[in-house]
Amino acid sequence: MDHSSAKDYMSKVKRTVITAEEISERISEAGKFIDSIYDGRPVLLVSILKGSFIFLADLARTVSVPCEIDFMAAKSYYESTDSSGVVKITMDLKHDVTGYHVIMVEDIIDTGRTLTDVLRLIKSRKPLSLHVITLLDKPERRIVPLKADLSLFTIPDLFVIGYGLDYGEYYRNLPYIAEFGD
Ligand code: IMP
Ligand code: MG
Repeated sequence: MDHSSAKDYMSKVKRTVITAEEISERISEAGKFIDSIYDGRPVLLVSILKGSFIFLADLARTVSVPCEIDFMAAKSYYESTDSSGVVKITMDLKHDVTGYHVIMVEDIIDTGRTLTDVLRLIKSRKPLSLHVITLLDKPERRIVPLKADLSLFTIPDLFVIGYGLDYGEYYRNLPYIAEFGD
């Protein structure tokens, strides 16, 4: 996209797939689910940047168990709607996860490659427990078998943007999730 112009910007935002209200409702339920599982035990919420930063911010405010927050970055898409198949850990956690109940907070599980690699790494550091919560799941696209402990929405094979998800780094700030298209 031409960074100096907003021309065509919103014309690529197709139908809304999930509204802000629907997201908010499901996140409240997810918060209750986390509280019920951990039952007062402290957790470490790990956001995989950048896609999950908005989800993490909203989810964190619905949980009542004591929680710490950390971030890591993994990249598998390079300005394209197709998976490159290359996963790189571009920023690691500040916490040593040993001795923590870790919850990985992901924006979307598509082929499953990114999260599979990240989970392998986190597991090798011996956390007390490890769970995965994803906002979106595209099971039709899975290449590596992987199932989240909690998936808020299952969507068909569409490229979506908004609520943290981007196309070429744009659209993360949309408060809802929409289909992206030319
Ligand atoms: P996976 O490794 O194929 O599961 O890819 C997961 C990552 O790809 C996500 O964390 C997103 O950053 C990105 N991704 C996958 N599908 C979409 C989409 O529909 N919109 C935006 N990003 C996506
Ligand atoms: Mg992501």
